[in-house]
Amino acid sequence: MVDKRDLVSVFDYETAARDKLPKTAYDYYRSGANDEITLHENHAAYERIQLRPRVLVDISKPDISTTVLGEKVKMPIFVAPTAFHRMADPDGEVATARAAGQAGAVMIFSTLSNSSFEEVMPEATGPMWFQLYVYKDREATLSLVQRAESYGCKAIALTVDAQVWGRRERDIKNRFRLPKGLSIKNLMPAGREQFPEKKGESGLAAYVAWQFDPTLNWKDVDWLCAKSKIPVLLKGVLHPADARMAIDHGAAGVIVSNHGARQLDTVPATIDALPPIVEAVDGKIEVHIDGGIRRGTDVFKAIALGAKAVAVGRPIIWGLAVNGQDGAKHVLDLLRKDFELTMKLCGCQKIEDISDDMIFHRS
Ligand code: FNR
Ligand code: LAC
Repeated sequence: MVDKRDLVSVFDYETAARDKLPKTAYDYYRSGANDEITLHENHAAYERIQLRPRVLVDISKPDISTTVLGEKVKMPIFVAPTAFHRMADPDGEVATARAAGQAGAVMIFSTLSNSSFEEVMPEATGPMWFQLYVYKDREATLSLVQRAESYGCKAIALTVDAQVWGRRERDIKNRFRLPKGLSIKNLMPAGREQFPEKKGESGLAAYVAWQFDPTLNWKDVDWLCAKSKIPVLLKGVLHPADARMAIDHGAAGVIVSNHGARQLDTVPATIDALPPIVEAVDGKIEVHIDGGIRRGTDVFKAIALGAKAVAVGRPIIWGLAVNGQDGAKHVLDLLRKDFELTMKLCGCQKIEDISDDMIFHRS
């Protein structure tokens, strides 16, 4: 057991999680697509951005609260939707929801959860969103939306970049399967909770090819926005033209995401894709971002470049793997404290003080 005093960053949690998780699980969680060029770039791009702090500002009491979709949230750091938390900790998404609530973070709950709405939602003390995959079975898809609404989810994050699966070579070599006793619990009522019995490839890739609808298009966004009683954001937008179309099709926001670099390798780092999208939507809908966010300075830079909120994926899993609910909460606390410190050192009292003027653009 790692001494918690030695876990002082998200990176420490990843190292400790790698030493603790079974190889197949760690490989699944860590993997990017193909040569993992974008996986590296997602964080490296943040390291290339420099900050230009202001001084002589009273930063004794920073306020990191903000509003998202018109609702106040305690901090602009969310839990990104990631699948199969019970591979990392026996309490899985229940532990994550408890940790998110304790840390004051919005949690985006994945369609591919090992835990059901019925297990997770009663334990969620913070705001919950639901991440939706569109199945060929539209009835099952709609039922997920209706259950999300009935359990009090505040928004739907429709994932639009993964109807066809990216090539994750470690999963293929590992013949990735869910460990015995785990399932895609929310799809049990539809009888779609298990990977198909296909030999010699990632079981998840086979499940996606079998179940997810590759015809997904803007008409489905119209359909979902008409059916949903809660706001819909599109997760996985990288092109400004799609961000503009999201406005026309009723989305309340976009999440600039490359799916943690797990779909199409050599797409830009999300922080590089962000500014043109912020410019394209011109404040008409909210822009959020995920991918490679590991430090408070990354959170600050994303907000300075126009993101309303950021979400972290793998860091939460590393926390879960190392120390369950407490680990996930500690990871969120580390990010929050690092972000608060960045705000103080940049001369920002509140979120609104953060501006692009504090990003140092080399001439
Ligand atoms: C994901 N992601 C993801 N996205 C989604 O819409 N539904 C999902 O079920 C999952 N599952 C998932 C599992 C794992 C193991 C990873 C790493 C990622 C993508 C996720 O929401 C997010 O876009 C990225 O994880 C953000 O990048 P970082 O923070 O992991 O670098
Ligand atoms: C992944 C899915 C579950 O990236 O979105 O593994």
